[in-house]
Amino acid sequence: MDEIIKAEGVSYRYYGSIPALAGVSLGIGAGERFAVIGANGSGKSTLLQVLGGLVFPSEGTVSFRGHEVSEKSLREKGFLRFFRERVGYVFQDSDIQLFCPTVLDELLYGPQQLSMAEEEARERAFAVMQMLNIENLKDRPPYMLSGGEKKRVAIGSVLTMNPEVLLFDEPTNGLDPRTQCFLVELLLALNEAGKTVVLATHDLSLIGELHARVAVLSEDHWLEKTGSAEEVLEDEELLLKVNLIHEHIHFHGKTAHRHLHSHFPFHRHENHIPHIHTIPEKEKQPMNELDKLKHLLHHWQEHNDEHADTYKEWSQKMSALGRQDLAGVLDALYRDASKLGTLFEEAMRMLK
Ligand SMILES: Nc1ncnc2c1ncn2[C@@H]1O[C@H](COP(=O)(O)OP(=O)(O)OP(=O)(O)O)[C@@H](O)[C@H]1O
Ligand SMILES: [Mg+2]
Repeated sequence: MDEIIKAEGVSYRYYGSIPALAGVSLGIGAGERFAVIGANGSGKSTLLQVLGGLVFPSEGTVSFRGHEVSEKSLREKGFLRFFRERVGYVFQDSDIQLFCPTVLDELLYGPQQLSMAEEEARERAFAVMQMLNIENLKDRPPYMLSGGEKKRVAIGSVLTMNPEVLLFDEPTNGLDPRTQCFLVELLLALNEAGKTVVLATHDLSLIGELHARVAVLSEDHWLEKTGSAEEVLEDEELLLKVNLIHEHIHFHGKTAHRHLHSHFPFHRHENHIPHIHTIPEKEKQPMNELDKLKHLLHHWQEHNDEHADTYKEWSQKMSALGRQDLAGVLDALYRDASKLGTLFEEAMRMLK
């Protein structure tokens, strides 16, 4: 694996005394999807900040493409630029990230720092705004935006730098389900485009959806395990130990499920969320066929509604582009899908 970021024996203590990371070693491959998970206070944000060169280890080293990232190395103008151009950081709290008078200024800020020509910078800013669907907000001051809109702008302000590594701290926090879906799609699309995507989260379904490689931090700030999302999510004992699940929480199908509608030119179908059951053995009962059908109907209905909305949305988009032929077919799909709704309801009524 071509490691782009490497941490070796990294410990960090705030003010030299409050422990936040203890001897963490890990390597992140170029083009990987990598997630850091752990309970509150385990050190996820600190680790991400250390990887992003925002704070520096008390012990151990961090390197980027074989160059040590330290207070000293970042004082060298050449390396500072090399590193900042290539590694972008999206803070959990967008208010920390956004400080310009307008959204457009926010998106232009990074390219300007890189001394990019005005025209190219504006082209990038507009391309990113279009991708994130925030063009209509371009003249607004960031403080006059909702949390989800701010998050898009914060991500946009990093994307205009076109970094090869993106570090996201708790990217789905505070977002509504639709925006969370959008974000998951975006992370996958960025990764598909070759970016290394690293995130800190305690959203277990997110790591499943991304099929990320996962580093698990313990509450003592150790690296407890590194493995695939599937391996980690199946390891109940580990998740209980690090306090990411407890006896009464379980994920099941719909509750932990987000369906991705891709607005990007690819679609992933393997978004299964592994089931994490911590239900006591005696409460477990085999599902009979009717129960299974009930679950399936719920699932089909939910996705049918989502699909219907997407057909409609695309019909409107095609219509706006003057492609009435496509708009007509998509509208017919929307109407047919809407009709299916009553059939699902009828089947569910029969099962009651
Ligand atoms: N600015 C700070 N000053 C002092 N201690 C801090 C500071 N930030 C974090 N810590 C401490 O460092 C440890 C790790 O914190 P960190 O924010 O990295 O955890 P986290 O896993 O990101 O938590 P959360 O899930 O709540 O975001 C915690 O014990 C925390 O109290
Ligand atoms: Mg945190």
